Amino acid sequence: MTTPEIRTDTLPYQDPSLPIPERVADLLGRMTLEEKVGQMLQLDARDCLEDHVLRKHVGSILHTSPERIVRANELTGQTRLRIPLLVAEDCIHGHSFCEGATIYPTQLGMAASWDAGLLERVARATAVEVAATGVHWTFSPVLCISRDLRWGRVNETFGEDPFLIGELASAMVRGYQGDGLTDPTAILATAKHFAGYSETQGGRDASEADISRRKLRSWFLPPFERVAREGCRSFMLGYQSMDGVPITINDWLLSDVLRGEWGYTGTLITDWDNVGRMVWEQQVQPDYTHAAAAAVRAGNDMIMTTPKFFEGALDAVGRGLLRPEAFDAAAVRILTLKFELGLFEDPRLPSAEAASIVGRPEHTALNLEAARRSIVLLENDGLLPLSADRPTRIAVVGPLADAAQTQLGDWAGGSGQAGWLDGQPRDMITTVLDGLRGVAPDAWTVNFAQGAEILTLEQDPAGAAFPDGQPRPPHVVPSAPNPALIAEAVGLADEADVVVAVVGDRIELVGEGRSTATLELVGGQNAMLNALIASGKPVVVVLLASKPLVLPVSVQQAAAVIWASNPGMEGGRALAEILAGEVEPSGRLPISFARHVGQQPTYYNQIRGQHGDRYADLTQSPAWAFGEGLSYTTIEYRDLVLDEAVLTSSGMIAGHVTVANTGARPALETVQIYVRDMVTSVSWTDRELKGFRQVDVAPGESVRVPLELPVAECTIVDAAGGRVVEPGDFELLVGPSSRAEVLLKAAFTVTA
Ligand code: NOJ
Repeated sequence: MTTPEIRTDTLPYQDPSLPIPERVADLLGRMTLEEKVGQMLQLDARDCLEDHVLRKHVGSILHTSPERIVRANELTGQTRLRIPLLVAEDCIHGHSFCEGATIYPTQLGMAASWDAGLLERVARATAVEVAATGVHWTFSPVLCISRDLRWGRVNETFGEDPFLIGELASAMVRGYQGDGLTDPTAILATAKHFAGYSETQGGRDASEADISRRKLRSWFLPPFERVAREGCRSFMLGYQSMDGVPITINDWLLSDVLRGEWGYTGTLITDWDNVGRMVWEQQVQPDYTHAAAAAVRAGNDMIMTTPKFFEGALDAVGRGLLRPEAFDAAAVRILTLKFELGLFEDPRLPSAEAASIVGRPEHTALNLEAARRSIVLLENDGLLPLSADRPTRIAVVGPLADAAQTQLGDWAGGSGQAGWLDGQPRDMITTVLDGLRGVAPDAWTVNFAQGAEILTLEQDPAGAAFPDGQPRPPHVVPSAPNPALIAEAVGLADEADVVVAVVGDRIELVGEGRSTATLELVGGQNAMLNALIASGKPVVVVLLASKPLVLPVSVQQAAAVIWASNPGMEGGRALAEILAGEVEPSGRLPISFARHVGQQPTYYNQIRGQHGDRYADLTQSPAWAFGEGLSYTTIEYRDLVLDEAVLTSSGMIAGHVTVANTGARPALETVQIYVRDMVTSVSWTDRELKGFRQVDVAPGESVRVPLELPVAECTIVDAAGGRVVEPGDFELLVGPSSRAEVLLKAAFTVTA
């Protein structure tokens, strides 16, 4: 192939005064086939940048560092057309792999705030840090629905409810993308993993997802549709196959639904080596030539980390499987993003001011706010809050009480995805022990004992790496209860007035390829809790766990139980403030907790109809249900009244409910609004979250909360897959959680 000559004066595509489509068309016309194929490639910046940029003409790199970004930019300066790179990274709860960045609670933790405005501010602040370091694109937010708690990536999600996911995801997209791509602090958001990736078999990561199209349309697609319509600039395609077809080449999902019905014009990126996986893992393509051809034909724009896509795609053209123009649509989309970001004029390299932007004090303050709001009080016999005035000896016990990096969770400095960082600076992280020592008034003493070990690791006998070179997670070997550690912890408890036991999971039990068969606390933690509770001292169990875990039966005797997810750098401080009553607990569960792993799934919005409502040997009811969470006061719901009980499908359900604070402390109450469709043409869930409002209620105060919901939201997905409001009888359910027994009901009818 002959290479077109490049003139040295300003070419149309280099002229910022021209409209972007004109610049794109001019540039495309100058590109060779190899350069177009390369634009579709995103490769790992930890590998050979020279090969990526000079030989493969890549359009994008990921997992990079400021030094590598600068080097890559120098290399693009040596190329014929000097097309800038899109630099991408997983900045999913803060700028995860940047040393000294602000690491917020995990997405699941932040979801417990039920506060879209807060998440938008977190995403905005993250974008400011990310943009300053030369990264243009984050692979966040995650819109997967968590239904099987064994899955290793539950922590990355917003939990189990499609409505809550849609609210919070669109807030994060707004935050990342800011005022539009010309804003130098805007970064591209990615809605992932489209779609159904979380619906694994047995919780096994990336296994075939058995989801019908109707089920997809009912629960899994709505959050994606929402962010697609709201302008999320990219979508990442899940690893898994569905009904036999990998998402990467799923024509129905990509062309009919996403591009067709929703009119989505954004950029589609595969997940890690999805194209290669069709060859070596799913074995649905004979070689890289056919895999590349299939991926291009299906409409993918950017191929993540399949280096052999380059040769495969060229070979596909050579063998007549693809026409040379097959790459144009993808190249146009990628180049348009680069022009819109203004990268041809300014490649947005790491800024000289980055050090003063990353981890700046305002972001730390926001992080503390996010951590406070993410903590969920699940049980309290009245012990909490601890009194600041009363002399109190606190025994802080447990392997996670002072585990700084573990507290940050997955996709953070030490979680293993980025080889260049062991962790975030210790002095930026407040553990629970640090937090309690920090807030303790003079009247308190705080002492610590480890109490238990969690696990050790053994290399997988199958080898250290998978066929694609990715590291194979080592095997987890649970530690046996350690009598000496338990005796030390119980000794400390005996000398104390209150025990704060901090238990949970570790990074080795969390994340991609690290689903768990059980949900129990691993290692010596249960034995430690049993012994502490048997000591008779009041025990506050703090569950610092990436996802809902199952606690031992002894915890029913605990004085209080708190779930603190992986609460980020400020998590220990936020927890201590809540224990000390300086801050009121306000988190509500975005996901249900099981009593036993065998109860899976425990999500609240299951389809009506089964024989009975329990297992012979166990209730089906979760330990704590979606929406639950306590305050330090008591709240009563009363007088749910609708203005009108007969409505048309274009009408508005309007009414009020009274929320009364009957206790002595203030509360931020999350008023949850569910809808029950009494009779549906096809089976449907008993109730679905359709809205929520957060209200401050002072002690003794009653607030009359207005409720509004368009009837058009009271839909089901019918047998033909259409989303419809079916006329008939409904109930509006309002209250503090998804549990049917705590919801007030008001009947209404929708007329034809
Ligand atoms: C694989 C993960 O599934 C995805 O979420 C992530 O964005 C990519 N790797 C890039 O790190």
